[in-house]
Amino acid sequence: MLGSVPGDGAQAEGTRVLGICGSLRAGSYNRALLRVARELTPDGMEIDIFEDLGHVPPYNGDVEAEGDPPEVTAFKRAIADADGVLIATPEYNYGTTGVLKNAIDWASRPPRQSVLDRKPVALMGASTGIGGTAQAQLQVRQALAFPGAQTMPEPELLVSRVRDKFDGDGRLTDELVRTALGALLESFSEWVEQVEAISAAA
Ligand code: FNR
Repeated sequence: MLGSVPGDGAQAEGTRVLGICGSLRAGSYNRALLRVARELTPDGMEIDIFEDLGHVPPYNGDVEAEGDPPEVTAFKRAIADADGVLIATPEYNYGTTGVLKNAIDWASRPPRQSVLDRKPVALMGASTGIGGTAQAQLQVRQALAFPGAQTMPEPELLVSRVRDKFDGDGRLTDELVRTALGALLESFSEWVEQVEAISAAA
């Protein structure tokens, strides 16, 4: 948390959160969910949405050995500069999307010294099916474990049958989802503080 003495619990300059959407679609429900999150932030939290995930190239160890491409550097820097990361993942074939998994793979490098190490993360997701991205979120949680990201265990936000929960203009019409998203953000604010306090004491 920027501007605070580690472990003092103060939010002097607030909590900067990077929102990452696993879908590249302009009309993505998951991006719409991140936009709603920006309206519901608890006091002191700000969410910036990373809009360039589609420019992150496919992971290639040979390319990495020559130095990170600028798009990868920008992605890693955005994560490094954030106090926490809020990921909204769609579900593609019972998993997360290739673009999101690929971006996590880049961000996880180099091992044990990556920008994901000890980074607080919260997950959510929306799908048109009944599962609400449960399996996609599980896969993202698993992918974040080895790099050492600190993924908040609960609450979960699984938005199923998402077409019934947004109107044609991308506005959230479901009050239960709005309330659950607000609760997730409140919990994430506390989670970021807890992870930072533990990291500072280590
Ligand atoms: C899907 N979708 C989907 N939905 C689901 O509930 N379970 C699934 O396994 C899948 N699989 C799947 C595979 C592929 C390749 C696509 C393109 C879609 C539907 C998906 O939930 C829907 O397209 C969402 O709207 C995608 O999220 P965005 O783009 O709206 O954020």
